[in-house]
Amino acid sequence: MTDPRPKQGKSVFIRTYGCQMNVYDSERMAGLLKPLGYTVADAPEAADLVILNTCHIREKAAEKVYSDLGRLKQLKADKANAGVDMKIAVAGCVAQAEGAEITRRAPVVDMVVGPQAYHRLPELIARTARECGDVLDTDFAVEEKFDRLATREADGPTAFLTVQEGCDKFCTFCVVPYTRGAEVSRNVDAIVAEARSLAAQGVREITLLGQNVNAWGSAPPAGVAGDEWGLGELCRHLAKIDGIDRIRFTTSHPRDMDDGLIAAFAEEEKLMPYLHLPVQAGSDKILKAMNRGHTAEHYVKLIERIRAARPDIALSGDFIVGFPGETSEDFEATLALVEAVGYASAYSFKYSRRPGTPGAAMAKQVAEDEKDDRLARLQSLLEAQRQAFNQARIGSELPVLFERPGRKEGQLIGRSPYLQSVHVEAPQSCLGTIAKVKIEGVTPNALAGAMLKREEAAA
Ligand code: 5AD
Ligand code: SF4
Repeated sequence: MTDPRPKQGKSVFIRTYGCQMNVYDSERMAGLLKPLGYTVADAPEAADLVILNTCHIREKAAEKVYSDLGRLKQLKADKANAGVDMKIAVAGCVAQAEGAEITRRAPVVDMVVGPQAYHRLPELIARTARECGDVLDTDFAVEEKFDRLATREADGPTAFLTVQEGCDKFCTFCVVPYTRGAEVSRNVDAIVAEARSLAAQGVREITLLGQNVNAWGSAPPAGVAGDEWGLGELCRHLAKIDGIDRIRFTTSHPRDMDDGLIAAFAEEEKLMPYLHLPVQAGSDKILKAMNRGHTAEHYVKLIERIRAARPDIALSGDFIVGFPGETSEDFEATLALVEAVGYASAYSFKYSRRPGTPGAAMAKQVAEDEKDDRLARLQSLLEAQRQAFNQARIGSELPVLFERPGRKEGQLIGRSPYLQSVHVEAPQSCLGTIAKVKIEGVTPNALAGAMLKREEAAA
């Protein structure tokens, strides 16, 4: 018998701002809405539901949401004139931080849903259909969120997997402890189940995500004796899953970089030689004012220990220039630290005053043009280091995991163990495989090379 009900045929457009955690959450939201009949639209014009998965980390990111909402207001009005209803949801960290303020500032918003409440999206959607006015859900309930979110479909040979959320560090510039709540770790069994499901769908590389991923800790899985596991043990355990050939994790805090994790870099060859370890600044006075809980020397020594374990490791970091009270001598200390460490890649930002954080209320805020100058100097040093790191790969043979077709016909784009993009001429059939590539040159943002031979073994 045919189903007499009309076809659901709805679609959702999700715009993701900010970090990889949001990318992961957006995928999970799409997975959650699928059983309700929602397919993913590639533009808001084609969608019945638009979700903005927002970022609150810097003022620019947060304000972008309001300018996008301004444009959506017009689209919603045009659709309403044509008799079509479009709902708008604001999710993510702006939702958590600003809550009802969002609907006051942008009445076009129908739903506000915080990062810990996505699993309740179906209820919220049903409520907006029933009730007039907007609905709000920004409760903290991380475990429940993970338990109830549908496992998403893999999209290609690499995938993110959230293992930890939240932050207890309270750096004085940062909104994350307020928007994402306290540090919570998922349990080993849940992580393994998700990793296995990804592997069964052809995923070869997983990146474990967490705001403080190396603060991850949990009891060993059922039947395994011993004390609480740290991230090093988790990586070694996940490395045993057939099909998973590469493991990465991000973002780490220097204070949580324990011996077990450093040893894993030396001993577990599936753990890729790339580490994002933000330091933020090089002056002890500024590190203290930022409440980072470590000195510049502690960080440099830590890097030495990590390099002793894995000499070829590619290091990445985050930096903030112009934190309140930063003098030009303090800034020189940041440059000196960068010189001492040598980064393969990095992210650097001008300090942005975030409401509610201790830094926003500090005296001696740094002038905007001074921040501009410092950022330009820091970025030119970091860029030179990145180029030097890439240049140094020329002539070497690297295992590359091919992720997607390139722009040019017959070209594939993959990643080296060091997370560099690598462009290679190779047949489409190589997508999702790992092959040895001879690196022959560099372009501004990638390496270029020639395929040597296919290799199915671990990279
Ligand atoms: N201003 C500038 N950059 C910031 N970050 C976090 N908060 C701020 C802020 N208020 C940067 C840090 C962090 C990265 C994710 O964003 O460098 O590591
Ligand atoms: Fe923010 Fe600091 Fe926590 Fe990182 S460690 S999320 S910078 S408070």
